[in-house]
Amino acid sequence: MSKNHQKVVLVGDGAVGSSYAYALVQQGLAEELAIVDLVKKRTEGDALDLEDATVFTAPKQIYSADYDTCKDADLVVITAGAPQKPGETRLQLVDKNLKIMKSVVEPIVKSGFNGIFLIAANPVDILTYAVQKLSGFPKNKVIGSGTSLDSSRLRIALAKLFDVDPRDVSANILAEHGDSEFAAYSSATIGGKPLLDIAKENNVSMDQLLKIEDDVRNKAYEIINRKGATFYGVATCLMRITRAILRDEHAVLPVGAPMDGEYGINDLYIGTPAVISASGIDKVIEVPLDDREKKAMDASAAALEKVAKDGMA
Ligand code: 2OP
Repeated sequence: MSKNHQKVVLVGDGAVGSSYAYALVQQGLAEELAIVDLVKKRTEGDALDLEDATVFTAPKQIYSADYDTCKDADLVVITAGAPQKPGETRLQLVDKNLKIMKSVVEPIVKSGFNGIFLIAANPVDILTYAVQKLSGFPKNKVIGSGTSLDSSRLRIALAKLFDVDPRDVSANILAEHGDSEFAAYSSATIGGKPLLDIAKENNVSMDQLLKIEDDVRNKAYEIINRKGATFYGVATCLMRITRAILRDEHAVLPVGAPMDGEYGINDLYIGTPAVISASGIDKVIEVPLDDREKKAMDASAAALEKVAKDGMA
């Protein structure tokens, strides 16, 4: 996909979608951005507003469109769906958002779209699974935002604790993007040194690390309680994944990836690092897990499996 004209279609122009569009413009990614939403006036307004930003970034065609625009897109990013209300879990959104996903995927596929899907609506693991099933696309061409945001949150918290740049913390949250996720501490490193050794040297206990894991798990609730929604964090994660695809980076990023025996899981999307390139998910990286993490992975997969199978029945 290293052609010199790349096209992204954004489906869903709410807070997450428009923040993503803005991030894309700021990064000068893609030459063409089409925005699709039921609220046509909003997409028209956003296209005009975003166009004003391009004079300081990079020229880009930005316009409001219908689903048939997906025909020649490299990437379709779906943020359409109801967001969580205060106190609501991501999994509680499943019925509402599966319906929306069905209504969105059908016209995209009908358009002749043959690129990569990137999904961010919640519950993202279930909806990514659903998009793959509904579209019939190869599994490596359907990617979820998965635990990308949670892993960013973990890196930020660990960076504060150990007073280092978050970009130098290598640590992932794995499994569901939601209440059953967990921190893969046993494989985390800073500067190549195991995080658990660094913790010991700094008198940081496992209980403190588990408190951080819990805070990361609850950070979205904290944000939603204060401002009603979260959008800049996830939008920036979507931009990062987009860059890896459009620039064929082969970047190792935590995403929502299809399981084919990794972690003993099959036929499910789950948060894990993977190699992301122009062809989508090149390779899933199975992170080694200790006993606590293995149990957490099994429990998370079981919870997701139940919702995925019930939802698609
Ligand atoms: C988040 O974690 C709500 O899934 C969204 O910010």
